[in-house]
Amino acid sequence: MGLKWPENLALYKIQDRCKELILGDDQLKEVMKRLTDDINKGLGKKTHADAIVKCFVTYVQDLPNGTEKGKFLALDLGGTNFRVLLIELGDNHFEMKSKIFAIPQHIMLGSGEQLFDHIADCLAKFMKEEKVQKEKLPLGFTFSFPLQQLGLTRGMLERWTKGFNCSGVIGQDVVQLLKDAIARRGDIQITVCAILNDTTGTLMSCAWKNHDCKIGLIVGTGTNACYVEKQKNAELFDGQDNGSGKVLINTEWGAFGDDGQLDFVRTEYDRDIDEHSINPGKQLHEKMISGMYMGELARLVLQKLTKEGLLFNGKGSDPLFTRQRFYTKYVSEIENEPHGTYNNCRQILEELGIKHASEQDCVNVRYVCECVSRRAAHLVSAGIACLLNKMDDPTVTVGIDGSVYRYHPHFHNLMVAKISNLVNKHIKFNLMLSDDGSGRGAALVAAVASRK
Ligand code: BGC
Repeated sequence: MGLKWPENLALYKIQDRCKELILGDDQLKEVMKRLTDDINKGLGKKTHADAIVKCFVTYVQDLPNGTEKGKFLALDLGGTNFRVLLIELGDNHFEMKSKIFAIPQHIMLGSGEQLFDHIADCLAKFMKEEKVQKEKLPLGFTFSFPLQQLGLTRGMLERWTKGFNCSGVIGQDVVQLLKDAIARRGDIQITVCAILNDTTGTLMSCAWKNHDCKIGLIVGTGTNACYVEKQKNAELFDGQDNGSGKVLINTEWGAFGDDGQLDFVRTEYDRDIDEHSINPGKQLHEKMISGMYMGELARLVLQKLTKEGLLFNGKGSDPLFTRQRFYTKYVSEIENEPHGTYNNCRQILEELGIKHASEQDCVNVRYVCECVSRRAAHLVSAGIACLLNKMDDPTVTVGIDGSVYRYHPHFHNLMVAKISNLVNKHIKFNLMLSDDGSGRGAALVAAVASRK
């Protein structure tokens, strides 16, 4: 059955408005070229200081081999939640207890001291509940923000991302800030064995099971990737070679584009998101991809189409026109039903105060969500293809975590298809969902470090 012509025209116009959100392979290949150049600048001694994609050396040289043992604490800060974990590693198995604590907005935007006191407080509560408050356990700290590392247990914060902005932390060693907060309380003791990024944790936790895992990726509240690099290419690496000749690099690719390299694919919606964020001009690649922004990107497109009269008969609602009110999970829910079924879509629109949506409106809303999520998946794919092209291994597994990858119904398949198009033909790859990358990964980094 064909559409009536006015609906046809609206659909045509909507597709036309969304065109700039669709990236062709030529554009993605250009993105790859620019990202590869930026990664090389981050790695180079002479170019690192001015590099946008920092490629921080993590000082993690060895991947786990399954024989790691012991009892570890882990802290995981950097997504929507803060978690404390107690992990026991044994031969090829592990046990884990964990507790989630909220980080209230006033702490995310408060002082560094308040933040670290809160973290220490949660840790102490957890240790008491688990009856390990008398022990001095090794601890791995997953801290998912850009850190200039000076070793496995020293990391200076370069910038805050993802809605955090605590004063007095940039340029400071966050391990020291944690130790100070624990010392201020005086009721617990720990040994910090490692500080790591969530991408590193994800890579380690996948590598524990799958020895081909050489890349760790997060597509969650933020986005980032790390990978195994040769020490000789990581020109800033100044540690002792443990024998592997390799070191993990935390690319911090969220910052890609902060010098204009992505302007050729950014849209008015991306500029709007950036201008209204707490870190304008920063993390521009991340703002096109990650869960903190995806829903809002879709909302901005829907708002514009509504105001142009192309959706809902031109009649929006206060929630639809309110910032942050269209959640990223809506995108997943709307795309998570077969084409032609719009139950989730209608329910979400009703939550937004839109009760008058036609069937064609639902088709169009879904189309907008698809454009936004596909673009994110395609940009991530271009990034992964860059890293895969750097590898010598014939088969590489990418360990992945994060709410967008985990819950978006098509993200995985979109990535498999697009990476296959973009990557050098001789490279074989697998995309593997990590179960609890950050937590177990922190224990593994601590364990591998204490193995030495
Ligand atoms: C941070 C990274 C982190 C990523 C995913 C970004 O905003 O800068 O360090 O890995 O989010 O959590």
